Amino acid sequence: MDARTIRPDPRLASPAEVPPTWDPERDDVLVVRQVRQETADVKTFVLAPATPARFRYLPGQFITLDLDIDGVRLNRCYTLSSSPTRPDTVAITVKRVPGGPVSNFLHDHLREGSVLRAVGPMGDFTCAQHEAPKYLFLSGGSGITPVMSMARAHADLATGADIAFLHSARTPADIIFRAELELMARTTPTFRFAAICEADAPFEPWHGLRGRLSLAHLEAAVPDFRAREVFVCGPAPYMAAVREMLRAAGFDMARHHEESFDFATLATAEPEVAAEVIAAEGETSAARVHRVEFRKSGRVIECPEDMNVLEAARRAGMRLPSSCTKGLCGTCKCKLAEGTVEMKHGGGIRQREIDAGMVLICCARPTSDLVIER
Ligand SMILES: Cc1cc2nc3c(=O)[nH]c(=O)nc-3n(C[C@H](O)[C@H](O)[C@H](O)COP(=O)(O)OP(=O)(O)OC[C@H]3O[C@@H](n4cnc5c(N)ncnc54)[C@H](O)[C@@H]3O)c2cc1C
Ligand code: FES
Repeated sequence: MDARTIRPDPRLASPAEVPPTWDPERDDVLVVRQVRQETADVKTFVLAPATPARFRYLPGQFITLDLDIDGVRLNRCYTLSSSPTRPDTVAITVKRVPGGPVSNFLHDHLREGSVLRAVGPMGDFTCAQHEAPKYLFLSGGSGITPVMSMARAHADLATGADIAFLHSARTPADIIFRAELELMARTTPTFRFAAICEADAPFEPWHGLRGRLSLAHLEAAVPDFRAREVFVCGPAPYMAAVREMLRAAGFDMARHHEESFDFATLATAEPEVAAEVIAAEGETSAARVHRVEFRKSGRVIECPEDMNVLEAARRAGMRLPSSCTKGLCGTCKCKLAEGTVEMKHGGGIRQREIDAGMVLICCARPTSDLVIER
C-alpha cells in the first residue's frame, strides 16, 4: 500500500467517541474512500461523509447520486450494497451499462478522494419491514446489491434467520461478491448460497447449477421455498420470469417482493395509464387549469390541477429530465419561482430544499399559476 492511501482515523484511537448521525436533510457530500474491482465490469465504491458521521438506513435502501457530467446534471439511484450494521461508511456497487453516461463515468473517473453529492438513503425494498424466520434471496447480475445488504446485515447481527441465496450470473467470473458469499455460507450454519451460471468463464469451467433459473433449480436447491419470504432483484426479464415461476408453483405472492433498477419502464408506462384514466373521464373533468411558465426556456403550458406538472409538460411536447416519476429519485427537481403546488413525494427531496422553493414536478400539482426556473 502506498503512503497516500493511509488515512489515520481518530475513531481507531478513541472508539468510545460516537460520531453524529448522517442527516439526509442536512448532509449530502460523500467522499470516495476506496474503490474495489468486483468483476470485470462491476466496481464497489466505499463512501464516507467528509467529516465522520454514521449512516442510518434499512438494508436494501438506495441513495440518489446528483452528478454534473460535462455540464449536464444527471441523477441515478444506487442501492447501498453495504450493511447498516457497519455505519461509518456506505458502499455502492455499480455495473457498467454499455453507453450509459453515469455508470461509465463512475467507473472511469471516481478515485479515492473524489467527492459526490447524494440524496437519501430511501426506498422500501427491505427485509426489515417483512420479518420472517426464513428468506429466499433471488438476484440476477447487479441486482445482487440490495439482497447482499440484507444478507450482510443478518450475518452481522447473527439473527439466526434461515437464508437461501440464489444468484444468477453469466459466468463464474461474473459472480459479484462470490468469495464473501461462499465464506458466509461456510461460517453461518443458517446461510446457504448457490450460483447459477449460463456459461463457463475463459479460465474456469462451471460445475454448479447451469442455465437460467428454473423451477427445477429452485426445487433442488431450496425445496422449502414456498415457506420463505422472497426478495427478488435483477434485470426486468429475470424478474418477470421469477414472478411467473413462483405463481405457477403456487407460491403465496403476498410474500414476494421485488425491486426494479429500471425506472425507465415505469416512466414510459405511467403516462399511458394516466392518459387512459383521463380519456375515460372524458369531457366531464371539471379540474381548474393553471398557467405554467418555464422561465429559462420561455415555454408556457396549461396544467389542470389534477395533473402533475411533468405530465402536462410532456403532453405539451416538452422533454424535461425525469426518471422515476414517483417522487423518489430527485431527477425532476426544479426551482419554483412563483405560485403554489400540492406535492406528495417519496423522499426524493429534502425539507430544506422545499423550504428553499424547490419542487419535484413529477409529483407536484398546481394550486395556482406557476413560474418554474427551467
Ligand atoms: C432503485 C434503484 C437502485 C439501483 N441500484 C443499482 C445498483 O445497486 N447497481 C447498479 O449498477 N445499478 C443500479 N441501478 C441502476 C442505475 O441507477 C443506473 O440506471 C445504471 O447505473 C445505468 O446508468 P447509466 O447512466 O450508465 O445508464 P442509463 O442511461 O441509466 O441506462 C442506459 C440503459 O441501460 C438500462 N440499464 C440500467 N441499468 C442497467 C443494468 N444494471 N443492467 C442492464 N441494463 C441496465 C436502462 O434501462 C437504459 O435502457 C439502480 C436503479 C434504481 C432505480
Ligand atoms: S422523476 Fe424521480 S423524483 Fe421526479
